[in-house]
Amino acid sequence: MSQYRTPPLEPVQISFDIESGSLSPTGPTLVRRAADLQGCFKNERSLAELIANGNPEIYRVVSSVVPETSRELPQSITTIRPGSVAGELFMTKGHQHPDPQGEIYFGLAGEGGVIMFDGINTSWVEVQVGKIAYIPPGWAHRSINTGTKDYKFLAVYPGSAGHDYQWVVNHGMGLRAYLEQGELKLKDFNLT
Ligand code: PA5
Ligand code: MN
Repeated sequence: MSQYRTPPLEPVQISFDIESGSLSPTGPTLVRRAADLQGCFKNERSLAELIANGNPEIYRVVSSVVPETSRELPQSITTIRPGSVAGELFMTKGHQHPDPQGEIYFGLAGEGGVIMFDGINTSWVEVQVGKIAYIPPGWAHRSINTGTKDYKFLAVYPGSAGHDYQWVVNHGMGLRAYLEQGELKLKDFNLT
């Protein structure tokens, strides 16, 4: 597998293929399956059933060759499968940037959105094809597939921003996204 390039980088053209969600030239690919999302979904029993029932892929992240280092501007394509765990829509783990810096998500295919949480305030921004969701510094973010097909988006972020997953474990995400009677329903994160 190709890996990140080492700075200094030469100017480069990067192609992306929306159908496959791939980048060329490409960096590493990260695949997260149901078992990697333990602690994320409210209904832990339903998640355990899904894990026992084939542990399917929930999403994958294909990174570009640009490294996650200071002053660089890496990109990645995330592909989230359609589906839910007891009605709670498939999602990414979600993280905070330890170094508070902004990020953009650009919709490539399917339908989705981003739950954002700054520890007090919550936000939901839809991401359709051709739309950008802006994630300001200090807002944890988790992507959701709200549709019936793969949801794909391009992320562009400062290389030194980092990924703090423990922040979400400690603080939650403010909201949870459900599909009820075919409609998106955002509910309080700590619903009983
Ligand atoms: O940098 C980002 O915010 C994205 O590329 C995410 O890392 C990606 O969507 C996967 O989400 P997570 O890192 O929360 O598993
Ligand atoms: Mn991020």
